[in-house]
Formats: sequence, C-alpha cells, structure tokens
Amino acid sequence: MIKSIRLVNFKNFADETLRVGPFTVIVGANASGKSNIRDAFRFLNGIGRGYTLAEIIGGKYGADWKPIRGAANEIIRFGQLLFSLEVGVNLNGIELHYLIEVSSLSDRDDPQKIDKFWVSREQLISGATSVFHSYGSGERPEIEESLEPYIDIHPDKPFLTQLLLYRQKVELLSPDDQAVVEQLHSIFANMRFLELSPAQMREPSFPGANILGDSGENLPTVLEEICADPERKKMFADWLSELTPMDVADFEFPRDPHDRVCLMLGEANGRRVSAYSASDGTLRFLAMLSILLGENPKGLYFFEEIDTGIHPARQWLLLELIEKQAAKNDIQIMTTTHASDLLTFANDGTFENMSVVCRREDSHDAIIRPVAELPDAKKLRKSGRGLGGLLTEGWMETAIAFTENHDEAEGDGE
Ligand SMILES: Nc1ncnc2c1ncn2[C@@H]1O[C@H](COP(=O)(O)OP(=O)(O)O)[C@@H](O)[C@H]1O
Ligand SMILES: [Mg+2]
Repeated sequence: MIKSIRLVNFKNFADETLRVGPFTVIVGANASGKSNIRDAFRFLNGIGRGYTLAEIIGGKYGADWKPIRGAANEIIRFGQLLFSLEVGVNLNGIELHYLIEVSSLSDRDDPQKIDKFWVSREQLISGATSVFHSYGSGERPEIEESLEPYIDIHPDKPFLTQLLLYRQKVELLSPDDQAVVEQLHSIFANMRFLELSPAQMREPSFPGANILGDSGENLPTVLEEICADPERKKMFADWLSELTPMDVADFEFPRDPHDRVCLMLGEANGRRVSAYSASDGTLRFLAMLSILLGENPKGLYFFEEIDTGIHPARQWLLLELIEKQAAKNDIQIMTTTHASDLLTFANDGTFENMSVVCRREDSHDAIIRPVAELPDAKKLRKSGRGLGGLLTEGWMETAIAFTENHDEAEGDGE
C-alpha cells in the first residue's frame, strides 16, 4: 500500500508531502493543485506501464495513454529545471522508499520549450538496505560497475523498469530485491484514474470487455459478470436500492442487433428501464459499485470529484461503502472532493488521511496539510456543522495561513 508521496518542484508544489491511506480525501479550492497530485500518481503509473519519460509525459499513441496535463513544458514547477517524486510504500510490513528525479534540457532557440528529459537520480530503499541507486547525466546512466555491461543506454527510461527488462538476461539483484522491484512496479502499474461519464456508461459493450474503462465504458459487461454470482448480485442490488430511491429488483442484459451487451434495470414495481434512460446518478453509482464490489478489487483508484452528480443526502452512504470496502480489500481509493458531507461523516481512519491543498499567498506555490493537524481540527470536527461546515466557511485555508505565519515567526526568532 502506498503511504505517502512527496512532490518536489512538480507542477505547483515546491516541496510537499501527501499522506495516503486506504481512503484518501483531498479538498481545496479550485486551481489549488488537487489534480496536480493526480498527475503525480499518473506519472508513477506511467513507470508501472514500462514507458519512457517522453511517453509518460507526452502521451503514448495507440496505448490509450494521454499526456500528463500541461505535458513537457508544464510538468516542472515554473522556473525550475528538475522535479522529483518520492513514494513511501508499505509492502507487507516492509517500508520501501522510492525516489525518481527527472531533469530537463530546454530548446536552444526557445528556452520556454523543453527538448528532453532524463532520469538524473533514482533510488530504491527497502527497509534499511539500498536496492539500487543510480545517477544519470542525460547521456547514459551511471550505475554500479557490476551492472554496467548489462544495462543499455536508456537515460529516458526509469531504472526500475530497466531492471525488469534485463531480468531474463542476467540476475542483477538478489532474489529478495528482485521481488521488491517487481512488486513495486506492479503497485505502480495497478492504478486507475476514473472520470466517469454517464454518456459512455449508457453505451452497449462488446461481450468479453469486462474491465470498466476510465470513463465507465463496458459497464453492461462488467455488471453482467458480477450478476452471474447470485450473492454478489444481491449485495449489488441492495446497495443500489439504498443509494437511489429506485427499488432495483433485477438486472437484465439483452443483446442488441450487433450482439453487443445492453443494460436494463428492473424495478420492484415491474417497470424496466434501459441504461439510456437511467439517471446519471444511478449510472455513477453502478460504476462505483462495480469497482468496489467487483471480484478481488486491487490497486489504487483515483476518482476526480467522486461526489459529482450525487445527491447530498446519499453522499454519506457512498462514503460508508468506500470506507468499508477500502478497509477490507487490497484497494486504495483516492478522491478530490468539494462535498462537505463527505468530510462531516468521515470515520476516524478517513479523517487521518484527509488533506487540504491551498496556495501560499506570497509565492502562489501550493501546500498540502493533513486536516487532522490543523489547530483544533479534532475538536471542531465533533462540534457544530462538523468538518463539512468548516470547509464551506473557508476555515481550512484560514487555519493553514495562521499556522504557516506562526511557524515562520517562530523560525525567524531562532
Ligand atoms: N508547472 C507549473 N508550475 C507552477 N504552477 C503550475 C504548474 N502547472 C500548473 N500549475 C498551477 O496549477 C493550477 C491547476 O491546478 P489543479 O491541480 O488543476 O487544480 P484543482 O485543485 O482545481 O484540481 C494552475 O492553475 C496553475 O496555477
Ligand atoms: Mg481538479
């Protein structure tokens, strides 16, 4: 499980760390930097997919991999030449620390335009031992001599990936270290970034396409698979009836003339409704349920604004479902949100992994702070309108500004 991510000169973060848990909630004003955090996770996912830096940042044609927002010219904090990401992972009790630093070179004729990236430093520490540590000059990575004959010149490919590529040729690492590298790579590979689109979810899907797309594509086939198991089907229908005023008694999956799978919802009153006329909110719930109640869900799911399209009266129920599933399964859920109820009704575990992102007034850089560490947050959470009320009132930003000024004043005195 990923425990933390540190962003240095990445987008609008100078040097900030986000605490990550089974369910991580990120709040903050518009354009504060919430989605920039998602972009950092996408970068890690790109490593897990085995891509080069150019592909991770600029997109990979034909692989359904879009560029990181802002692409090459805006991934590094303005005015800087390099960025780094540092991830803390708990791997069955072992603490891993992975760091990747990426340097850039500008176009000779246009300093605003970045010409190339390379991995200038990369390190993996497992427990107290270093698994590898490499430095790159942009020409070829400088690595330990024993490895040198085997590693090709790929200054633009993370060493973590190269170690896997060369695994077949030669044993570069001890079996234990090799296993750590493989597991970390697969943690990075197992990330999904969902931005659900009801329009996409309404479309029939091809038989066998049983993985929900990032916009919710293939919903009918995914649901059909879940409904093949009577127990899961019942759980699914029960949650859906709780989440929506509609009493769903059954799901049907008729084929269209092209043999694609369609979705029909049967209500207890005997009415049947096709996905085409199901409400946006119902479809969003269906998609989230199919992830959370799917068979062995694993990996990290990042939802952009999970509360979109969901009635405030039902948000706490969605929260309950996520908290329950994330705690018992091998999954991590992260979301950005503006929903005050999601904060007010969060349990103690979620409260610990709730962070607020806001901008410094002077430099406009973004800061990330755990809500639980803001002054009196624990007390205020239990009083009045709860954390949601504080979010609405803008208390979080004020509290951060207060602590920052306070810390600075203390620092000056030293
Ligand atoms: N390379 C960069 N350097 C400094 N600031 C950046 C950079 N790239 C983006 N930003 C800032 O990040 C903001 C967008 O943040 P974003 O994460 O999309 O906001 P939100 O919190 O609404 O999701 C932009 O308005 C811009 O100010
Ligand atoms: Mg955003």
